[in-house]
Amino acid sequence: MISDDEFRLLSELLKKRSGIALTEDKHYLLESRLLPVARSRQLNDISHLCQTIRTKPTEELLVEITEAMTTNESSFFRDIKPYEQLRSIVFPMMINSLATSKRMRIWSAACSTGQEPYTIGICIREDAAKMAGWNFEIIATDLAKKVVDKAKLGIYSQFEAQRGLPIQMLIKYFNSLPDTSWQLKDDIRNMVQFKTNNLMDDYKALGTFDIIFCRNVLIYFDDATKAKITEKMAKALPPHGVLILGATESLVDPTNLFVSLPEFRGAYKLKSAQ
Ligand SMILES: C[S@@+](CC[C@H](N)C(=O)[O-])C[C@H]1O[C@@H](n2cnc3c(N)ncnc32)[C@H](O)[C@@H]1O
Repeated sequence: MISDDEFRLLSELLKKRSGIALTEDKHYLLESRLLPVARSRQLNDISHLCQTIRTKPTEELLVEITEAMTTNESSFFRDIKPYEQLRSIVFPMMINSLATSKRMRIWSAACSTGQEPYTIGICIREDAAKMAGWNFEIIATDLAKKVVDKAKLGIYSQFEAQRGLPIQMLIKYFNSLPDTSWQLKDDIRNMVQFKTNNLMDDYKALGTFDIIFCRNVLIYFDDATKAKITEKMAKALPPHGVLILGATESLVDPTNLFVSLPEFRGAYKLKSAQ
């Protein structure tokens, strides 16, 4: 059992390092995620782990704890509809706005194991005829190095590959490996640049993006953190830019920076662009 003091220590650490806010009912989650971290360091239980955090906290340990507490669930074409709308609504908007430069920058801001940015790459290839001669840059970032490392490889188990991905796309965009897993073909892998990045930090170094995917991550933050991220996302978008959240998420936007995109639930553009 985790004591109240230990819960406070761990949840404050997590909030500070990742923005993830743990509610009081998450004692079990902390225990199940952090016990393996403790055991891998020959510590018997969470109390000993907390003692180590208090007395000799190494950066490596704090990173390991933070990464262990992230939820990395993802799938190709997650929720399907946003990707259909990316192709039917957002790409045509961008083709119009960026007709002169023919350059599009897209950010997958909590990319987990890579299914989201690779799905974006597949959508671009599926629409290749409409965007011949265009130049695309997809930047995919996540707080957790362990998922970014997996994403870079572009290798997925049979289960992960088939989840959400139509069989004809699996065959078109992946190579099957001898151990029954699947690897994305170089054409799609080379479209995506992966990096670690913390949404709690400044994004200026990443530049601006025409489209930002920030899906299924804001749910882990409290409203104050969500509002700060909304403000930073607004600064990372040009006037024609579009921000896309998860299907069940809504924007926390106390200063009314954004308006919803008609006919695309979960997508927003800057109010100043109206
Ligand atoms: C549930 S996954 C969502 C993956 C993908 N966007 C999707 O919708 O399928 C949430 C991801 O957010 C990442 N994450 C959590 N806190 C973060 C932070 N402060 N900065 C960047 N990424 C964060 C986690 O590591 C995890 O991989």
